[in-house]
Amino acid sequence: MSLETDRPAAGGAPGIPGTAERIYDLTARRDEVERIAEKRALDRQHAKGKLTARERIELLADPGSFVELDQFARHRCAEFGMDASRPYGDGVVTGHATVDGRQICLFSQDFSVFGGSMGEVFGEKVLKVMDLAMTIGCPIVGINDSGGARIQEGVVSLAHYAELGRRNAHASGVIPQISMIMGPCAGGAVYSPAITDFTVMVDETSHMFVTGPDVVRAVTGARVTAADLGGPATSSEVSGNAHHRATDEHDAIDWVQTLLGFLPSNNLDPAPEFGDTSSPGLTAADLELDRLIPDSGNQTYDMTDLIARIVDDGEFTEIHSAFAPNMICAFARIEGRTAGIVANQPRHHAGVIDIDASEKAARFVRFCDAFSIPLLTLADVPGYLPGLAQERAGIIRRGAKLIYAYSEATVPMVTLVTRKAYGGGYAVMGSKHLGADFNLAWPTAEIAVMGAEGAVRVLHRRELAALPESERGAAEHRLTEEYRQRHAGPYLAAERGYVDMVIQPSRTRLEIARAFRSLRNKKQTLPAKKHGNIPL
Ligand code: HXC
Repeated sequence: MSLETDRPAAGGAPGIPGTAERIYDLTARRDEVERIAEKRALDRQHAKGKLTARERIELLADPGSFVELDQFARHRCAEFGMDASRPYGDGVVTGHATVDGRQICLFSQDFSVFGGSMGEVFGEKVLKVMDLAMTIGCPIVGINDSGGARIQEGVVSLAHYAELGRRNAHASGVIPQISMIMGPCAGGAVYSPAITDFTVMVDETSHMFVTGPDVVRAVTGARVTAADLGGPATSSEVSGNAHHRATDEHDAIDWVQTLLGFLPSNNLDPAPEFGDTSSPGLTAADLELDRLIPDSGNQTYDMTDLIARIVDDGEFTEIHSAFAPNMICAFARIEGRTAGIVANQPRHHAGVIDIDASEKAARFVRFCDAFSIPLLTLADVPGYLPGLAQERAGIIRRGAKLIYAYSEATVPMVTLVTRKAYGGGYAVMGSKHLGADFNLAWPTAEIAVMGAEGAVRVLHRRELAALPESERGAAEHRLTEEYRQRHAGPYLAAERGYVDMVIQPSRTRLEIARAFRSLRNKKQTLPAKKHGNIPL
């Protein structure tokens, strides 16, 4: 229908519109939202290098699948002259759609309307669509681009942020929650994304911080930029607030679509299953694993080379890849089924566990456990990171999170030790003692309290000190080798059943797939309680 030419003649009784007029009126209202307001939004957003709220939805959702809700909702605020402008939608587009044919709910903040700020009606719309996601049992994707609490609406907007935080907490572990930061996200508005499971930010156009540069300067006198405070680099590499730093909005949406493909819709449904494309026999790529571990313990290798040889099509999606890169967390598929992978990365700080690595992996393990995603742990770890900075920042309390997370997990768990598994690192990286179902080791595994050099220096300190200096080096070398032979292989652990199988590296993919296959019906429950008290 063309609005200019097709206005119908009056149809009903005098003063009462007929059906054709009412349909015309609906079309005109829709036109106001979807064409006129969208044109205004497009001009404003594109000038800032950003897409509109609706363009983002179009890109994320399957074509034609988006169903908008509350399109005609409008604010009721009369303060500060607000009653002069009551645009439909009130600064946020909400509804449901499908992504790769699977249901999601979403909201997309519209910065072109009151800066995408949260007012009463905006809040009601977001809460309603979150409630819908919980009722349906599907993921919720929040697209954030907002100036925060709507200043004109005062405490009512704060109340809705708090309500949203409560919804996020109640939805945690029930439906996957994903936040996309596509513009500003400041003040208390950051806490809703922080509670959600995954947050993606876009280079150049997004930032998130509790207090912006002006407030920081007023309160502390320090001059900082928005990028330093909470730009995508800071958030993905330093603070860890963002799980992925996208190059642009298309990249961010791609990442979210890929992520959704790994996840179940809720904590009762299984993750989507894909066809098993893996080879049933040994492949050339498998055989390469027999040469992955360098002969010298001082040389390093890339743990992603192993991951790529275990998972279907060599494909995996890292979560938090730029944060604590000494610990890898990734989703992949094994025989067509989603698996969560937690792995030390020897290429970064020798794969040591520091505070960031512990918290990164703990949150990932808890997510996987909440959504019944089996966990594969690949260990090559020299232990927890020693040092004043780590102790003072709480490596005891914060390092404990990983032990807690594994101990609480009841999903199928398979662990492989490739090389070092020293001290606390052995215990925490999915050891049998924390509840792993199958523990595998390569013949190159060194499972011990500490590295051979360190152990010999502690155990033989007096004996070595008593030797003439000319003999000390050779004696230390001999004792180190003896220790390595006797105490630092996989076999003492295998004698006790702490390691179930010592396998040839080239058989890794096949053995891990078989282990997960055998665990498909695993059911384990822990004692009932209100909730635990993970060290925070
Ligand atoms: C009402 C707002 C707004 C807000 C922006 N606008 N933020 N309106 N409430 N919070 C409006 C602007 O008035 C402007 O309207 C339009 O949105 C675009 O804003 P600009 O400033 O022109 O855009 P830009 O230059 O890109 O700057 C974006 C910005 C800035 C950095 C976000 O707008 C800003 O600093 N806003 C205030 C942020 C803030 O302090 N929010 C409260 C945080 S406290 P016109 O009509 O001119 O186009 C909070 C508490 C939550 O959120 C508590 C939860 C527990």
